[in-house]
Amino acid sequence: MSKIWLLMFGPVFVLIISIVGLFAMQTSVPVYQETFRPQYHFSPPEKWMNDPNGLVYFDGEYHLFYQYHPYDVIWGPMHWGHAVSTDLVHWENLPIALEPDDNGTIFSGSAVIDVNNTAGFGANAMVAIYSYNTQTQGVAYSTDRGRTWTKYEGNPIMPALATPDFRDPKVFWHEESGQWVMVIAAGREAQFYTSPNLLDWTFASSFAAGHIVATWEVPDIFPLDIDGETKWVLLVSVGAYAPAGGSGIQYFIGDFDGQTFTNDNPTGTTLWLDYGADNYAGTTWNDEPDGERIYIGWLNNWTYANNIPTSTWRGATTLPRTLRLVNTAEGVRLAQAPVAALESLRTPLGTWDDLTISSTEQVIDGVTGRTLEIIAEIEPGEAERWGLKVQRSDETGTRIVYSPARSSLLIGRGDTTSAGAINRFSPAFGAPLDLNGETLRLHIFVDESSVEVFAQDGLVALTAQTFVEPPADGLSFFADNGEITVKHLEVYALDSIWSAPE
Ligand code: FRU
Repeated sequence: MSKIWLLMFGPVFVLIISIVGLFAMQTSVPVYQETFRPQYHFSPPEKWMNDPNGLVYFDGEYHLFYQYHPYDVIWGPMHWGHAVSTDLVHWENLPIALEPDDNGTIFSGSAVIDVNNTAGFGANAMVAIYSYNTQTQGVAYSTDRGRTWTKYEGNPIMPALATPDFRDPKVFWHEESGQWVMVIAAGREAQFYTSPNLLDWTFASSFAAGHIVATWEVPDIFPLDIDGETKWVLLVSVGAYAPAGGSGIQYFIGDFDGQTFTNDNPTGTTLWLDYGADNYAGTTWNDEPDGERIYIGWLNNWTYANNIPTSTWRGATTLPRTLRLVNTAEGVRLAQAPVAALESLRTPLGTWDDLTISSTEQVIDGVTGRTLEIIAEIEPGEAERWGLKVQRSDETGTRIVYSPARSSLLIGRGDTTSAGAINRFSPAFGAPLDLNGETLRLHIFVDESSVEVFAQDGLVALTAQTFVEPPADGLSFFADNGEITVKHLEVYALDSIWSAPE
């Protein structure tokens, strides 16, 4: 009898014990110390995140809400997760802010501070304006600094449109016309609405140009000054066929009068915020206290977001970046730089000057680290292809390559040992950059599973997830068939923003 029992249920017991064992192994790694866990980028303690939402500054805190699925590491019924920061570098995780209700699950949206109580929820109420998955729009408010939330009883405040995609409202107070303005994605265009009270919205205009071959999502519009003039920048996330494949963000520069956006560039011109594969659904903070325009994106791409090889969590943000406008030979362009407060994480590892590189690999001795900031100025010589390798070991690494023949700055992340989802990643992608003999100025941030490259003072950005298995942590330079000179190199190790567990 007992033998039969053993035969029948033995395999089941073995299975249960293995599952329990596996679970124990997973949970025995302290949170924020798992393999590939970003150390100075925001990611939720566990489970799935996508878009940053409700970016607003209030009473000493930068709020970061985000698309969150608290029950799994794949996309599912959306909630708004929540974290706050006083410096945009260190984050405190807070309880879930918005949960699904009878109107649907909670998609992306924005938050404002209703200083003058236009909506009637109280002076200085924090008001979230978001989409339901049904593509209607809803409102919720908090009168305790975003800690607890009440849904507006009149939800939804805007019905769905005939187009199946109508979502991701970004709302702000438009000083010049003394009203609230909403920009929202509708199919393959952005629509503008205005309101006196955040609840009743009137259609003002619509705008479409550039990359219109895929659904538009998560728009944002904001002013930036250049040469004493105010210009308006419109960001739009597009779901497919971005330069690195899959989803990406385009931008427009022009004017906005409270009703209509007028594009400075021809309709066909497409400007990309980032030429890497992993910067999507980003928006900017309302009410930034120093008058800066600070952006943060989702460090991912819908093409493979559900399959990236992480364990207990899935998804992270890009570094917060300060945006500015710059004059270039091609016209006015958007440039970006990680916020200066990140310098508080630095430990200097060394500086080098006038290094001649003439081989296929020259390792920089004394530089090791999975979390590095690298500043490099490189004079191109006659070399055919040249650059550097981060997350380096003898077997693997991530290459940042300049190709004079292609006038491109590229990230090559095919060069990894990880199996599985990584194989679905596009192996290399690049940004157009014609150096024309000029020095390449690089600012690079390496974290456990990402590389962010800023070139020419942030005029070019390449953001990529890179699942290079530890311990790959070195740095090297290379120059194929010729020389380059590293005029200046500065490397810092960056501290983790997540405190060690007690
Ligand atoms: C963008 C997006 C939004 C939507 C949300 C759903 O990544 O598709 O358009 O509101 O994610 O999670």
